[in-house]
Amino acid sequence: RSVTLIGAPLEEGSGRRGAAMGPAALRIAGVDQTLVDLGYDVVDAGDVHVVPARDLPNHPKAHNLRIIGAFTRALEAGVYEAAAAGRFPLILGGDHSLSMGTVSGMARYAAQQGRPLFVLWLDAHSDFNTPATSPSGNIHGMPVAYFCGQAELAEILPKERPLVDPRNVFQVGIRSVDAPERELIKEHGINVFDMRWLDEQGVAATMRQILGIVSDANGLLHVSLDVDFLDPEIAPGVGTTVPGGATFREAHLIMEMLCDSGLVSSLDLVELNPFLDDRGKSARILVELTASLFGRRIFDRPTRAA
Ligand code: ARG
Ligand code: MN
Ligand code: MN
Ligand code: MN
Repeated sequence: RSVTLIGAPLEEGSGRRGAAMGPAALRIAGVDQTLVDLGYDVVDAGDVHVVPARDLPNHPKAHNLRIIGAFTRALEAGVYEAAAAGRFPLILGGDHSLSMGTVSGMARYAAQQGRPLFVLWLDAHSDFNTPATSPSGNIHGMPVAYFCGQAELAEILPKERPLVDPRNVFQVGIRSVDAPERELIKEHGINVFDMRWLDEQGVAATMRQILGIVSDANGLLHVSLDVDFLDPEIAPGVGTTVPGGATFREAHLIMEMLCDSGLVSSLDLVELNPFLDDRGKSARILVELTASLFGRRIFDRPTRAA
């Protein structure tokens, strides 16, 4: 029951400024004390600071690759080390390109444990673009393709790095996918539970299905929570809002079910842009959701009969 907070003030993957203030806003919203109050041993490792990696190319279709590559390396190492020390890595973002590093670090840890890594991607977007398919060149639209070994982005991490099997990626809340990106998703077998699926099946049945698969495989589960997973009405502090997002109650139920499962190994909170937020509202919601994931609840549930 120990957590390491790692700040990733990265905004260069998003094509606009502001997400670099995300870690500060999450701390001001009380992420540290919230976990302490729930009984965790919390260490705040502070923010990652890097200089651009000069050995990487300037890529015309993957903007700011040198700085994002440097963050990727530092986060891969930091997340791996926290997990290997038996601590839960909680990454305070920062735009979603940071998941190239955090998920790669967990993939290394899982491989070493001889367990499969699963990823729950809570997002409006699939983030499965490659430099060739990306309409924007913004790397925050590419991390899933990267950690599945499908985005060619020079040699940021060693070639033999452990990858995530795309069939172990569950995407929930998806409602904005680029046309060529959709083809890649189908080709590689990413599991997409889009908004229509959630409307028809509900989040509880969806989560039961996902958690059953992870549990049967004795897997580790990394959760990556993009602010734009949530409806813009409740979480406006993000550069890529898409209408029709998850409600407050749906999002909390997901976190509560994740908590009950005991399967979650690591968490990213990403894309918070405090410059676009409404009086700290989105930062506060992320911290509340984190509390639910770490065990805050209204009442204990009755134990289900065996
Ligand atoms: N699909 C779009 C792109 O590739 C948007 C990606 C948005 N990603 C995000 N992490 N907010 O540019
Ligand atoms: Mn910066
Ligand atoms: Mn995203
Ligand atoms: Mn998104």
